[in-house]
Amino acid sequence: MNTNWSKWHDAYANPGSGLGDRLAAVRAQIDRRLDETAPNPVRVVSACAGDGRDLLGVLAGRSDADRVTALLVEYDAELAACAREDAKASPARIDVRQADAAQSEVYSDAGQADLVLLCGIFGNVSDVDIQATVEAAPQLCAPGAEVVWTRHRNDPDLTPSIRGWFADAGFEEVAFVAPDEDQWSVGVHRLAAAPRPLELGRHWFTFIR
Ligand SMILES: C[S@@+](CC[C@H](N)C(=O)[O-])C[C@H]1O[C@@H](n2cnc3c(N)ncnc32)[C@H](O)[C@@H]1O
Repeated sequence: MNTNWSKWHDAYANPGSGLGDRLAAVRAQIDRRLDETAPNPVRVVSACAGDGRDLLGVLAGRSDADRVTALLVEYDAELAACAREDAKASPARIDVRQADAAQSEVYSDAGQADLVLLCGIFGNVSDVDIQATVEAAPQLCAPGAEVVWTRHRNDPDLTPSIRGWFADAGFEEVAFVAPDEDQWSVGVHRLAAAPRPLELGRHWFTFIR
């Protein structure tokens, strides 16, 4: 990886980057999912979680955060430490794991998630890896789980293919947020098929940026 991902997060503070708007869209979907599942316990998995600001930001504004159990997987030590520090303020049970989120083993003790966050991944890995990750997503899911994912729509726009791969993997589309004035998009897919058991020893993607 050539990118300094810790520094990349600075762009959230830059209104021109669009990242803040994307974050708001992701948070809105997390919030909606938490509303829809209330008052039941909710299990969340976030792969390549960065500093966890999407989930942690939502939890900070909710009075029912204590029903959430979350596993955040992030490779970068600085970002993982930041997420861990921010998670201390939450009544949710949050495990921040500094590990390779592409390795299926990482999730072996996570249990089936009701909400899976795949944000900031699909713009940084090959098309083949995106397809492999989407195909594997049911392995992380509880019945009816939702996956929130992001991808830019720069030419050639891959999002039609990604949405098709989710359909092929047994998901139905809940939302696809794609503003005219910017190139980011946020997709949400709900697992309609049965979840699949976690296959150990799989490596779903490699960052190429
Ligand atoms: C584009 S950022 C997205 C961060 C966060 N999900 C967000 O949307 O703000 C990508 C993140 O993936 C992390 N990352 C890259 N490869 C990884 C891997 N194999 N396992 C875990 N994290 C990884 C980077 O360190 C970085 O924090």
